[in-house]
Amino acid sequence: MSSIFSYSINVMQLTSREIRQSFLDFFSQRGHRIVPSAPVVPHGDATLLFTNAGMNQFKDVFLGVGKRDFTRCADTQKCIRVSGKHNDLEEVGYDTYHHTFFEMLGNWSFGDYYKTEAIAMSWELLTKVWNLPIDRIHATVFRTDDESYSIWRHYLPDHQIHRFDEKDNFWEMGESGPCGPCSEIHFDRTPDLSGGPLVNKGVPEVIEIWNNVFIQYNRKPDGTLEDLTAKHVDTGMGFERICAVMQNKSSNYDTDVFSPILKNIESLSGKKYETELESKTGIAMRVMADHIRTLAFSIADGAIPGNDGRGYVLRRILRRASRYSRNLGFHEPVLWKLVQTLVDTMGDIFPELVEQQVIVERIIRAEEDSFLQTLDRGLERFGDIERSVRASDSTTVSGEDSFQLYDTFGFPIDLTELLARERGLTIDIERFNSLMQEQKLRSRAARKAHIQQVELPSVDASTEFVGWNDLSSESTVLFVKDNQIVLDRTPFYVEMGGQQADFGEITVGGNRYGIIDVRKSGDAIIHFADSDIEHLVGDTAVATVDSRRRWDIQRNHSATHLLHEALRRVLGNHVQQSGSLVAPDALRFDFSHFQKVSPAELLEIEHIINDKIRERFPVLTLELPIEEARKIQGVKMFFGDKYGDKVRVVIIDEKFSAEFCGGTHVSNSSDIG
Ligand code: ALA
Repeated sequence: MSSIFSYSINVMQLTSREIRQSFLDFFSQRGHRIVPSAPVVPHGDATLLFTNAGMNQFKDVFLGVGKRDFTRCADTQKCIRVSGKHNDLEEVGYDTYHHTFFEMLGNWSFGDYYKTEAIAMSWELLTKVWNLPIDRIHATVFRTDDESYSIWRHYLPDHQIHRFDEKDNFWEMGESGPCGPCSEIHFDRTPDLSGGPLVNKGVPEVIEIWNNVFIQYNRKPDGTLEDLTAKHVDTGMGFERICAVMQNKSSNYDTDVFSPILKNIESLSGKKYETELESKTGIAMRVMADHIRTLAFSIADGAIPGNDGRGYVLRRILRRASRYSRNLGFHEPVLWKLVQTLVDTMGDIFPELVEQQVIVERIIRAEEDSFLQTLDRGLERFGDIERSVRASDSTTVSGEDSFQLYDTFGFPIDLTELLARERGLTIDIERFNSLMQEQKLRSRAARKAHIQQVELPSVDASTEFVGWNDLSSESTVLFVKDNQIVLDRTPFYVEMGGQQADFGEITVGGNRYGIIDVRKSGDAIIHFADSDIEHLVGDTAVATVDSRRRWDIQRNHSATHLLHEALRRVLGNHVQQSGSLVAPDALRFDFSHFQKVSPAELLEIEHIINDKIRERFPVLTLELPIEEARKIQGVKMFFGDKYGDKVRVVIIDEKFSAEFCGGTHVSNSSDIG
């Protein structure tokens, strides 16, 4: 099917920049606070790899656990849909209206207005302000939502309102979280207004432009729906799509959102962009224009290509784009050269792009460089594989060959699938997956072999940790076995978050035991003594931490926070702690960076840290409700970590470092010495 259809309506002619602004102005005039886009890399939500909808940053408000000081707001949100529930990667480049990265214009009501006002405002903006023709607008409602249906009947005839089921008209953020029935607005671009039956059929002539979600439930991890205490509105309009509609373009790529990027690719490649869907040049340019936006925005927000999780998604996207650039004849890194166009066209709306430009370009270029080293050999190998598949009269690439392409040549499986699809072949994906699984088990086993196993008794007791401020405590013995002793309270810190355990001594009934290790079993803290303990449950004990060792550990722990922030300031926001060791004699901080840290950078990092030590900042540890803690400017939290309702935040100079941390610290930066 070709998407090349001509299409023209008589609407207000606006540039994309004007369309965005006019959306925000419209809602601002109707009492909405205009808020900034949240980062596209979400922090503190382990259910998401990337921000996939405007409502993500308000999840806490919908669930009733967070508050804002307004009940209506609007924004343009950077979204990425390449993983999880909302994943459009396969279509990208092959069609004209799906993207890995897009802007979502949205307005929200937090227990304020509901269906009637939400639909009325959508209608007013589309038909009164922007003058979209009414006979081209179709609304959909959830199959049982008679209320929305009758609201729409004020504006549209029956044949322009359609009922759909859960698949199309019940919106959910992910496997769990806020959700509810929705009412979508679709736009008919057929020449003869025959688009009614094409609504939700996945054709470019009739596309969804706006979704009004009526959030009223929370989907719990066990799959059940729970009523929320208030009802909310969450809307999302595809910015690139509304630009195409209003600019009379049949393809999003023909709007002024994408044309500057395509122009840049044209001038770098010396080839002309071809709008036909089947054109190899067209596909390659669309993929590059789309993917560079995902790469640039996510890296600007602190993500970095890597081997797992979010990093691997980015690596796959980069490699996909890199391989398409080869179709245009590029043999050198080229994607990084497109970042400038994004900075020029979107930098004022998203200043983080300007701030991080250098780092974004360097990371993309380094990734391209390393992939290009194996791309040619991998493509050659794929050619051999194809020949032998055909020679054996088959059309299936084996799991073994796909795994070799992955393991030796760095071909993500979707890249191999794409190459196969282009040649009319398929992949034995099951076998590939089982080989991947075997590899995972092998490396897990290898890792495990390094971890010393200690059998911990299961103790039905719970120990209160009092060592934030006290290095000694008078306690009661709750459990004794051989050289292990559990108390009701203890100042001994158990190794956690890299901070090593405390050593020290416990005296019971005049006997003194040296403590050489501390571990946690359930809620109990078990102290390991240097000899068997003779005393009984119920006895009184005095537990005393080796204060010199603890002091040294704390100095290194606070220094680690300074180092973390200094690294981010000098090398970029992509620096994230991937591991750390805080011991009495040394500290180690693991992070990924795309090249060796230069001596000049090291010196700068050293200066920053030494200055902070000399400036004598108090080190504050606050215990806060998580929602409040999250709002601290620049606070570092660890993606994937589970946090309780209350968290500890360690702050060293308000303008410098704030970090979620369960460890112990010095009380003034000068104590680091
Ligand atoms: N959250 C809704 C969506 O993404 C508006 O479609």
